[in-house]
Amino acid sequence: MGRYLLPMISVLFSTWSAVGDPAGSAHVDGAPPSKIAVVGAGIGGSATAHFLRQHFGPEVQVDVFEKGEVGGRLATVTVNHHDYESGGSIIHSLNLHMQEFVKVLGLKYRRSVAGKTAVFNGEEVILEETDWYLLDLFRLWWRYGISFIRLQMWVEEIMEKFMRIYKYQAHGYAFSSVEQLLESLGGSGFINMTRRPLSDSLLELGVSQRFIDEVIAPVMRVNYGQNVSIPAFVGAVSLAGAQNNLWAVEGGNKLVCSGLLKMANANLHQAQVSSISPIYSGEALQYRLSFTTSAGPRSEMYDIVVLATPLQASVQSGVEFQDFTPPFDELAGSYHSTVATIVHGYLNTSVFGFPDPRLFPFASILTTDTPHLFFNSVASVCPVNISAGFRRKQPQEAGIYKVFSPQPLDKSQLKTLFRSYYSVQVTEWQAYPRYGSSLGLPPVELHPNLYYLNGIEWAGSAMEMSSVAAKNIALLAYHRWNRQTDMVDQSDLMHRIKTEL
Ligand SMILES: Cc1cc2nc3c(=O)[nH]c(=O)nc-3n(C[C@H](O)[C@H](O)[C@H](O)COP(=O)(O)OP(=O)(O)OC[C@H]3O[C@@H](n4cnc5c(N)ncnc54)[C@H](O)[C@@H]3O)c2cc1C
Ligand SMILES: *[C@@H]1O[C@H](CO)[C@@H](O)[C@H](O)[C@H]1NC(C)=O
Ligand SMILES: *[C@@H]1O[C@H](CO)[C@@H](O)[C@H](O)[C@H]1NC(C)=O
Ligand SMILES: *[C@@H]1O[C@H](CO)[C@@H](O)[C@H](O)[C@H]1NC(C)=O
Ligand SMILES: *[C@@H]1O[C@H](CO)[C@@H](O)[C@H](O)[C@H]1NC(C)=O
Repeated sequence: MGRYLLPMISVLFSTWSAVGDPAGSAHVDGAPPSKIAVVGAGIGGSATAHFLRQHFGPEVQVDVFEKGEVGGRLATVTVNHHDYESGGSIIHSLNLHMQEFVKVLGLKYRRSVAGKTAVFNGEEVILEETDWYLLDLFRLWWRYGISFIRLQMWVEEIMEKFMRIYKYQAHGYAFSSVEQLLESLGGSGFINMTRRPLSDSLLELGVSQRFIDEVIAPVMRVNYGQNVSIPAFVGAVSLAGAQNNLWAVEGGNKLVCSGLLKMANANLHQAQVSSISPIYSGEALQYRLSFTTSAGPRSEMYDIVVLATPLQASVQSGVEFQDFTPPFDELAGSYHSTVATIVHGYLNTSVFGFPDPRLFPFASILTTDTPHLFFNSVASVCPVNISAGFRRKQPQEAGIYKVFSPQPLDKSQLKTLFRSYYSVQVTEWQAYPRYGSSLGLPPVELHPNLYYLNGIEWAGSAMEMSSVAAKNIALLAYHRWNRQTDMVDQSDLMHRIKTEL
């Protein structure tokens, strides 16, 4: 279905200016906002700055605060003069915001270099990809019966509904909460999917327990470091990402962030925001942001503020909410830590039952949910710039591998997985929410003109999810400022859009 949707959606993108006309950004009772702050320059914050500029026009000052590196969880590490993605790495072909960013920024797609995947259960390889697509299909069929087809149809149906968001956003519609957004795309079914375990949804669908254990669990482990008890919605996002049509950005995904900030003409402050407080003068409400730069502490006033970083305690954003009535409580839940270890060395293929590395045919190994296993996945990785003559290293040669694990690997674990190595680089991420089914979804509107982007990660954490949330918040901020209530939380949008066209 995606192929048919694409041309139509790019037409919608280019007609956006009708809705986002900057001349329309005057406040109905007065002036447009003069200053907007965005806290965080990951893909969420950078995309927010871009969309804010689109909707509010050239006059407004957009300040973006970043305490670390632009890109946030999109980052690279350098090994032997080449860069490798250490955080978010793959993008689905139907991730239309990411695609549009790459296009308007003049960036290039990085081609993928073929490589086979296998599933390891701690003792042996139990599932392997072959060269021959039909044989793989046949094997999946033989091993798991109808499960495989049912699953594919389920994921496709969810994707198809999810893609309605691009039409709604192109027509300028915004949502005041993640629940409202999901409801408009997939009704109560989508909201329910954020609350029930993936395994329950799949079993109900008729997917076999064996398929869940041997295929679904390994995909959840590599993508979210968690098991099949994670909510069905994020599970579906993750399974969509396990399909074939994937890409990445040449030079590194984080180039999208720096590119968007530049295009938005945003002022980037290398500073940690330490507190935010509401300041009332008569009817007017502004926010004071206190922040620390290398030159010392400062503060500034803003009309609109977007927080584009997780606010759960475990992420340690360091932002304090002062003088809010009622007091603003810290958000419940925590983030899951995932360690990305990039190793330059010789893989010990014996671990997987292949004493002779020359006979080891796999580029990546996923794992089943096995208690004593210390890693979630191991994969040979390609640099962010691939030259024409690039080929993957053979397993008997020294290569670059990425290992995901819940804890840092100790020396003996490294020495088990690698016969020997030249270098090891470790990135410990507060990677994505630690999903549970009872936490609910965090709010988008924290206070008038104060927005929170990362709640969407509790429905699903991915670059595109943050981009969708960024567009939504820019639209929401614009409509709230202009008191356009008919553009927020509207029901029956599919029907409305048809009649608008
Ligand atoms: C190992 C790993 C693999 C992943 N793989 C994929 C994948 O293949 N595909 C995919 O789509 N997604 C993937 N993801 C998820 C994806 O990377 C994230 O969902 C996305 O990058 C989140 O972007 P964000 O801008 O919302 O948040 P972040 O990238 O976390 O940005 C928040 C920014 O705010 C800054 N900040 C925080 N507090 C303050 C403060 N007080 N003052 C100033 N700045 C502050 C932080 O330094 C950070 O740069 C992966 C994530 C990880 C960790
Ligand atoms: C979602 O859950 C609610 C409450 O449990 C239920 O009433 C509704 O029918 C469910 N929706 C779907 C589509 O399953
Ligand atoms: C998944 O992990 C959670 C938290 O670690 C645990 O409570 C749950 O029992 C696990 N579920 C399965 C199916 O293993
Ligand atoms: C990598 O790719 C980016 C984007 O195309 C380009 O700007 C950069 O110069 C390239 N770097 C190398 C070393 O080729
Ligand atoms: C490689 O893995 C095998 C099997 O787990 C193990 O016996 C061996 O010690 C490991 N290390 C080397 C250097 O072969």
